[in-house]
Amino acid sequence: MRSAGGVQPGCPPPGAVRSLVPSGQDQWLYWSSGAGVRLPGMRQAGPRGSLRSGETAGLSHRMIEQLLQAAAAAPSMHNTQPWRFRVGPAGDVIELRADPARQLPYGDPGGRAVHIACGAALLNLRVAAGVAAGRQTVVRLLPDPGTPLLLATVRFGGPHKAGETERKLYAAIERRHTNRQPFSDQPVPPGVLASMTEAATLEGAILHVLDREEAVRVLHLAADAERAQLADPAYRAELARWAGGQRDRDGIPDTALGPRALGRATPVRHFTPGRPYPAGYARFEAHPQVAVLSVRSGGTVAWLRAGQALERVLLTATACGIATCPLTQPLETADAWLVRDPRCGTEYPQMILRLGYADPVPPAPRRPVSDVLDQPDPGDDLPPGNQNPQPHLP
Ligand SMILES: Cc1cc2nc3c(=O)[nH]c(=O)nc-3n(C[C@H](O)[C@H](O)[C@H](O)COP(=O)(O)O)c2cc1C
Repeated sequence: MRSAGGVQPGCPPPGAVRSLVPSGQDQWLYWSSGAGVRLPGMRQAGPRGSLRSGETAGLSHRMIEQLLQAAAAAPSMHNTQPWRFRVGPAGDVIELRADPARQLPYGDPGGRAVHIACGAALLNLRVAAGVAAGRQTVVRLLPDPGTPLLLATVRFGGPHKAGETERKLYAAIERRHTNRQPFSDQPVPPGVLASMTEAATLEGAILHVLDREEAVRVLHLAADAERAQLADPAYRAELARWAGGQRDRDGIPDTALGPRALGRATPVRHFTPGRPYPAGYARFEAHPQVAVLSVRSGGTVAWLRAGQALERVLLTATACGIATCPLTQPLETADAWLVRDPRCGTEYPQMILRLGYADPVPPAPRRPVSDVLDQPDPGDDLPPGNQNPQPHLP
């Protein structure tokens, strides 16, 4: 097991990154790196307000591919990867769309998990644009009410010099993996928890680190919800479609699954209930450390926010050497509200996370970028919702 005696050297300190900016003009518009909110279609001005030639130039194919690879490294329920991307012809904007063919009919009938996964991919895209491409980004969530599958547009703005924290988050994108192994009993240091909590706040969400009693209550909810799910053949069929065996494009391969606990409920989803015997048994941590990520409202925009917050929290944890494992069984039931700590008012829980120290695990597969990239429609040179198109500057 890896150990840590305080905040890890690679751990972003609290307060190191600014991100979400409430905008009076358009509540879903914000900028994610650089210095200032920009309006849709607004010209990207230089430091003194002048438009510098080349500032809004599009990105190279190679850079776009790098950004999309980062986006697609995001977590998704059962590793369905429910996203599609489209690049504007000038290479200065990327559209993120939900892929309804990859929505889970049983586990995610309302599309909440699709939006969370796509929100996580969006966060990766923003971070990668700031660090790898060195560009500011202007993000619009759900820019076209008539096209609900178009979840976001990311327009690349002027140059951006990434700070140390952004670079650490970017480096964590390919190192972050869901870890379903037992964790050690070592507590996650308060400084790391503070960094993770701040990461959620920066994206407009709330991360509650549960005390032991509350963690036990939430894990009981997970076990109860899972018991009910496992009794349904439709749930088991969906699991069999997405988990177990060898997989090289999507789904959860055996190599990413973990053992079961002996003599007590395992604090990890049971992905292969159809097998006569589990792959193995092991001792899990006596007191799982659990956090709940919540947002203040329901609906698709809130889910996209939750996804971005989730990924920032996960990357922050990864940068700090902390293993993470989502578990969402109770959030997939009509009783999702039970996950909410009664002391937390009217928040909407979106993710339960088990945290701790553990040996690293192998990655789950991803589809190649070419599989998630759509060609623009002929004549469609701007994403919907941009009313003030700007010419592409050479
Ligand atoms: C909305 C959502 C729900 C998830 N629920 C669970 C869960 O209940 N149990 C689990 O082990 N992993 C869960 N995951 C993690 C995914 O299984 C994981 O992200 C996916 O298999 C890809 O693997 P990676 O995270 O290692 O890249 C969830 C992820 C998301 C985004």
